[in-house]
Amino acid sequence: MTAIILELNCNLWLGKKKLKNMSKTKLTINKNGSIKVEGDFEIVDSEGTVYGLEGRTALGLCRCGLSANKPFCDGSHRNTFDHESKAFDLPPMKTK
Ligand code: FES
Repeated sequence: MTAIILELNCNLWLGKKKLKNMSKTKLTINKNGSIKVEGDFEIVDSEGTVYGLEGRTALGLCRCGLSANKPFCDGSHRNTFDHESKAFDLPPMKTK
């Protein structure tokens, strides 16, 4: 299985001095399926209301659009969603 893994680090800074790593979240773009999120995270809706995750530290987010339980994956993507997850570099950000 091929997957793209994106790791996000959240650090606490005092000026230019890093005090500590606050958390680590990993997003894995699964081949032909969901985005697996694991680590320290919260998920909020468009109004900022937090989804109750009942203590889960890993879950799948739907990226195929077929889940009946969006934004969470319910497995509906199986055999219906085709996307290779090959990592690539984005172009440099444009400056204003
Ligand atoms: S990615 Fe699994 S249901 Fe959409």
